[in-house]
Amino acid sequence: MNEQWEDRPKEEPHTEMEEQSSRWICTANHGFSPYAQEELRRTFGTLKSQVLESGEVMLVTLPASADQVLLKLQTAPLMFLRHLFPVQAEIRLEPGDTPEGMAQKVAQFANNGFSEPHQRIQSSLPGKETEAVAVAVAVQVRKSGKSFWEGSALELKDQIEARWNPEPEQIRLVVRDADLVLSIYAAEEAVYAGVSTPSANLSDWNGGAVRFQREEGQISRAKFKLLEAERTFGIAFSEFSRALDIGAAPGGWTSFLLERGLSVTAVDPADMNPELLKNPNLTYIKKNADSVAFEQNQFDLLVCDMSWSPKLTARLVIDLLYSLVPGGTAVVTIKLLSKKPLALIKEIQEMYTDARMQIIQAKQLFHNRDEITLYMIKY
Ligand SMILES: C[S@@+](CC[C@H](N)C(=O)[O-])C[C@H]1O[C@@H](n2cnc3c(N)ncnc32)[C@H](O)[C@@H]1O
Repeated sequence: MNEQWEDRPKEEPHTEMEEQSSRWICTANHGFSPYAQEELRRTFGTLKSQVLESGEVMLVTLPASADQVLLKLQTAPLMFLRHLFPVQAEIRLEPGDTPEGMAQKVAQFANNGFSEPHQRIQSSLPGKETEAVAVAVAVQVRKSGKSFWEGSALELKDQIEARWNPEPEQIRLVVRDADLVLSIYAAEEAVYAGVSTPSANLSDWNGGAVRFQREEGQISRAKFKLLEAERTFGIAFSEFSRALDIGAAPGGWTSFLLERGLSVTAVDPADMNPELLKNPNLTYIKKNADSVAFEQNQFDLLVCDMSWSPKLTARLVIDLLYSLVPGGTAVVTIKLLSKKPLALIKEIQEMYTDARMQIIQAKQLFHNRDEITLYMIKY
């Protein structure tokens, strides 16, 4: 495992950082953890990190308390950090330890570790401050490819749950809608565990891996990106009425917007799914987006998911912004074809800001591959 200090300024002593620090298991989309690490370094000035799963999962020590870290991440969300949880226990594999013995130790942590957060959560549940109410707890387990635990993460979860005996009046094990999450990461030679709320973890999904059911006849997986944007950014798509979809073929995003009750104008030189073309609320313009024209303020939503040069795509979208009503929303993906994605994103954000777009959030969603999603409002 390669452990490295990322310092800036270089001469800053490590001891200073260790005075008040917290440790986290941080996860990004595959290949993007170096960018999450860079964002964390820019936010916290310095950090210590150890790769647990190449390109994806890191053990990070930050020079701030857990509460300070969470506050900072809530006020200035990072683009590439998909999920994190606080490390409250590191259970190292000792000589003679069996995998089942490790599961037992995690269960012990769970048995001991829940009384304080349980009381805190219980006292924060409206109307239930004094009532004895069972806290809903989800157990989320992941493992690295090289973990000492050779079985699946699900098997490890079963083993832990089988050895954990929470008081039923205190803790109710759930899969969704948890008050608290017990997060477990089984690495090569240690298990990391922590208890936190789903919102502190940035996602209520295990590792931030948002799963949607593939539907019968679904046109493209791209639809998942908008579904995820809807939840992650809290965009109420059904409240819009007229959408422009640029680079729409084969029609995953268009079908999603039609389902939400919008009328959609789809622009793409490529073919749309023939089934969609039967929908009376769809206008399909089989053209390149640089050769279309609309009325001023014709749309209240603009979406663009074009597989093209990110800067040229941004230019093209900006040239069509006259058709978006002031106060209208735009959701666009930025393909990260560059070796310096953070610099590229900054440049593109500046292009949009100069074009009177307020950037509400920029984030790499779980369903974004080599891209991020920008959520903006025109002012
Ligand atoms: C990733 S696909 C879009 C997938 C779509 N969002 C969906 O949900 O099915 C990218 C599309 O961008 C289109 N495209 C690329 N350059 C374009 C341009 N200049 N004008 C319009 N569409 C373009 C391509 O033809 C392609 O269909």
